[in-house]
Amino acid sequence: MATYVVVGLQYGDEGKGKITDVLSAKSDYVVRFQGGDNAGHTVYAGEEKFVLHLLPSGVLQCKGKCIIANGVVVNPKSFMKEIAQIEAKGMRTDHVFISRRAHVIMPYHILLDTYREEEEGGTQIGTTKKGIGPCYEDKIARVGIRMVDLLNPDVLAEKIRKNLKIKNSLFEKYFEKPTLDFDEIYNEFLEIGQQLKDRIVDTELELNQAIQKGDNILFEGAQALMLDIDFGTYPYVTSSSPSTGGVCAGAGVPPTSLQNLIGVAKAYTTRVGNGPFPTELNDDLGEKIRQIGHEFGATTGRPRRTGWLDLVALKHATMINGINNLVITKLDVLSGIMPLKIATKYRTEDNKIIDYFTSSTTKLYNYEPIYEELEGWTEDITDARTYDELPANAKKYIEFIEEYLGINVYLVSVGPERSQNIIRKELF
Ligand code: GDP
Ligand code: IMO
Ligand code: MG
Repeated sequence: MATYVVVGLQYGDEGKGKITDVLSAKSDYVVRFQGGDNAGHTVYAGEEKFVLHLLPSGVLQCKGKCIIANGVVVNPKSFMKEIAQIEAKGMRTDHVFISRRAHVIMPYHILLDTYREEEEGGTQIGTTKKGIGPCYEDKIARVGIRMVDLLNPDVLAEKIRKNLKIKNSLFEKYFEKPTLDFDEIYNEFLEIGQQLKDRIVDTELELNQAIQKGDNILFEGAQALMLDIDFGTYPYVTSSSPSTGGVCAGAGVPPTSLQNLIGVAKAYTTRVGNGPFPTELNDDLGEKIRQIGHEFGATTGRPRRTGWLDLVALKHATMINGINNLVITKLDVLSGIMPLKIATKYRTEDNKIIDYFTSSTTKLYNYEPIYEELEGWTEDITDARTYDELPANAKKYIEFIEEYLGINVYLVSVGPERSQNIIRKELF
């Protein structure tokens, strides 16, 4: 058995898509287990650029199956759009399947997400407005519509009718917005079910059998630990568990089956959306990093907030995830920035020095990071393919991270292309 889990360790956009794409070439299965089309995963395949939201980033290279498992919330319209985009580029998609248990993002979820965010005094989390939170709410409230329901006209009708009764009342009376029409939604989603019926399958049995057989299975996380519903900066988080722990509930596989837990972190930090960000750089250097690193959201196009690497947050993330292999991406972006700073502790508002992450999101706004300074390097490292080709100070940067976290960096990414990797240990 050989299982691999790739998860983000910061606030998303660490380059998980690129790493998953690289690893998927040797995978029999690539499995998304949480989140939805709020994700934006950029993959370069030669001259072609793909931005994947809902499809596993393994879709381009995996010779086996790509599975959207039960823990994902699926916007079927986004799914079909992405499938069409991939097929338009001449690539196959007949290996992509969706769990019958996965919940469906309905039009009222997207509207609810949008109205709440836009309302004065509303949530203002800075969500992607893809309906993710409202869909997971309905799942937990046990009123959600699952992919399997799209194949049963009577069940679908009853569920949409019940949901619209409440949602329409909210739209009309609370938000003072137009209501939604039953017939329109029902007919549209019934039709979607028919179009997707061959892809809607049970996935947990097959995945468990594949694990027993010893197939290579890659579980691909979206978002990241600092956006985790439990362990992130609540309420400025997403509504799922993007941790390695999320794999078990999100794909129906036991904890004992998970072996290689790969955490992906950028060599610095970015965040898109609201919420505390202790090491944020609100200055020219922050802007410089944004420009060099092309730090603009792949889903919403919003500029990403940028800042120094935060090892206090990263230690929290590696601990919750039990990471045993680290990937550091975008090291190339730091070339020429001197000196470099890394946060190793925080000073609290009552002047205490701490080296652990706090559960108090409000207090975190007032915490001041304490930095270690490292010299930096000027060389372009985008052509480096072995660790020894890196400048001494780039190696010191990597080794500083390893030492602090007590975990080896097995892959250093030095550019967006598939080949721009320094692999220090073959995992596959
Ligand atoms: P994801 O959400 O974790 O998959 O990350 P995104 O795709 O949203 O954002 C990462 C961005 O950085 C993408 O535009 C990637 O093409 C790019 N990228 C990934 N790795 C590297 C790297 O090592 N160096 C540089 N310069 N860009 C990278
Ligand atoms: P990938 O997989 C970065 C952020 C949003 C917002 C918060 C809640 O590309 O790393 P949501 O729409 O999920 O309810 O928004 O989470 N967010 C992400 N930030 N990368 C992502 O995905 C994100 N998915 C959600 O910006 O702050
Ligand atoms: Mg992204």
